[in-house]
Order: sequence, then structure tokens, then C-alpha cells
Amino acid sequence: MSTENQTKRIGRRDFLKYTVSLTTASLFMGFGSSKLFATLAPKKGGNFIKTITLNNGVKMPMLGFGTLTLKGVEGARCVADAISAGYRLLDTAMIYGNELAVGEGIKQSGIKREELFVTSKLWVVDSGYEKTMKAFASTLNKLGLEYLDLYLIHRPRGDVKGSWKAMEELYKTGKIRAIGVSNFEKSHLDELIANSKVKPVINQIESHAFFQQGMANESLKKYGIQMEAWAPFAEGRNGLFTNETLAAIGKKYNKTNAQVCLRWHFQRGIIAIPRSSQKTHIIENLQIFDFNLDHSEMQTIAALDLNKSQFPEWT
Ligand SMILES: NC(=O)c1ccc[n+]([C@@H]2O[C@H](COP(=O)([O-])OP(=O)(O)OC[C@H]3O[C@@H](n4cnc5c(N)ncnc54)[C@H](OP(=O)(O)O)[C@@H]3O)[C@@H](O)[C@H]2O)c1
Repeated sequence: MSTENQTKRIGRRDFLKYTVSLTTASLFMGFGSSKLFATLAPKKGGNFIKTITLNNGVKMPMLGFGTLTLKGVEGARCVADAISAGYRLLDTAMIYGNELAVGEGIKQSGIKREELFVTSKLWVVDSGYEKTMKAFASTLNKLGLEYLDLYLIHRPRGDVKGSWKAMEELYKTGKIRAIGVSNFEKSHLDELIANSKVKPVINQIESHAFFQQGMANESLKKYGIQMEAWAPFAEGRNGLFTNETLAAIGKKYNKTNAQVCLRWHFQRGIIAIPRSSQKTHIIENLQIFDFNLDHSEMQTIAALDLNKSQFPEWT
């Protein structure tokens, strides 16, 4: 889909739902003339985003929209804008306090439910069989959905076995299309797999240029579990958006550091879920399927690895 088309889709929805203000209109005109965005061949809906097949046969987009911190009316607008721009994978969690807003954004977008891939996560306080059942029902209710595409155990804390048993049951009844985990280390996965009937499809972990998680990815591949990168930009920490190495690579393709990073995740075969509250960034982050990083550029980015979390406060 071209940037112009993406912008028009957002614009049409805004026009129908709200009164289009002069400010918004001039912002859109700004998109159309921006040199930042390369034009892609027009494609229908979010089909231009490549998918990957999970170990249970379900297809999942390789690029999605993160929603941490996107709350309330503004959060709903960001989600609706992201869907209008072409994102189909949405990532939320009970602990983000925004499942209502994400649900509202989905409604505003007018896109059919079955075209979307919605992920939410079970927080630590809800671990255990009974609490998981209740938390899941509450998540569905807030999102206004009949089923989830992916439900993850957010962190390996509490009664993981009880939670997984509940998730396996929900999976078997079709209330969840795929179940997985987040922030699990090898020992957590070994224990879960040894005690369960259904293998996780995904492990969503921190991964970006400064904490690449190559070893974790190799070990996940052995299990047939797909890696998904949270904070694919490290939230801009350690100067990611101004990093000169990334900028030099981006210059060759007329791409930004953000686009180079997302392309690098994609070429590593890793799903990424960048977040943005700005329409320009929401669109920019989708424009990664019209260039290819060569082997030496992939190696150059590999050399940026500090093999260290940029979020020590969360561990
Ligand atoms: N499972 C877990 O434990 C876990 C933990 C953290 C996050 N997550 C998930 O992963 C998602 C992504 O991670 P994240 O939100 O922490 O961080 P992120 O996606 O790495 O970075 C988000 C930041 O990047 C900026 N940004 C986005 N696009 C940009 C662009 N093209 N140019 C310059 N700046 C840009 C955004 O600012 P603007 O708004 O100004 O664009 C925002 O401040 C989350 O939203 C959440 O869904 C999961």
C-alpha cells in the first residue's frame, strides 16, 4: 500500500467519525509531500505485511503495532490509525490498562474482526487456573471480542502450570487461536514444555540492536517456538534513533534508523511490534518491505549488540 493510500484511509475514517480539522488536513498534506516515505506498490488492506506460520499452523503477521502507554481516547485513535494504515497485528496486555481503548480503536477502524490478529497477555497477579479463566474473560470483554488470536503468559511468575492448563482448555474450545509466553528463559520453557500438552507458539522477549538475543532465538528455533521482539527500538534508549551506524546504512536506501531496525528484525525472521503515537511514525514503520539489507549490513548491525537489557528496571 502506498503512503498516500495509507494516509487517505486514515483521513477517510477521521472524516466520517469526527470533523476533520484544518490542522489534521495540513498534517496529511505534509505526509503526501514527505520525502521520507518511499512509495510501495498499492496492495489491498494489510496484505503487504508478510506472515509467518506458527507451530500450530496459525499465520501471524511479522510486523505489528505495540500499544504500551497508548490509553484512553488518544490510545483508541492510535490503534484505529494503525489499522487504517495497514497494521493487522495488535499487541496489548491487561497490565497496560488499555484493552478498552484497543477494543474501541478496533471498532473505529471498521476492519473485519477476522482480518485482525489480536494479542493480549495474562499478568502475574492472575496466575493459576481459576484466575486465568477470569482474567481471560475480562480481557475479551474489555476488547469487545469473541476470541483472541494469541494469549501470552506475560512473565514466568506464580502458578504458571495452572495458568497454562486454563489456556490449553481455552485454546481447545477455540476461544484462543494460539497460546504462548513472554519473558521466558530456557529453564522456564523446559519446565513448561515438560508439563504440558500444547507447546507455546511464541516467546515474546526484549530484542533490539543493543540486545539482540541471538542465543535465545537459536534455542527457540530448536523447540519450534517463534521469537517476537518487544521494544524493537529499545524505546530509543542508548541513542538508537540517532545511532550513526544505523544512519549510514539507512542513507543508502533513503530509510530512517527505525526502518533499518525493523527491516533487520524482519530479515532475522523475528516478529516485531513497534509502538508509536504519531501518524508519521505509524506509517514510516510500515515502509520496510521495499528494500533489502545485504549480508555485510546485517553483520554490521549484529556488531552493535551489547548483549545487555536496556530495561534493567523491568527484570
Ligand atoms: N512482553 C513484554 O514484557 C513487553 C514489554 C515491553 C513492551 N512490550 C510490547 O512491545 C511493544 C513495543 O515496545 P515499546 O513500546 O516498549 O517500545 P518501542 O516500540 O521500542 O519504542 C517506542 C518508542 O519509539 C518511538 N518511535 C516509534 N516509531 C518511531 C520512528 N519511526 N522514529 C522515531 N521514533 C519512533 C515512539 O515515539 P512516538 O510515539 O513519538 O512515535 C516511542 O517513544 C509495546 O508497545 C508492547 O506492546 C511487551
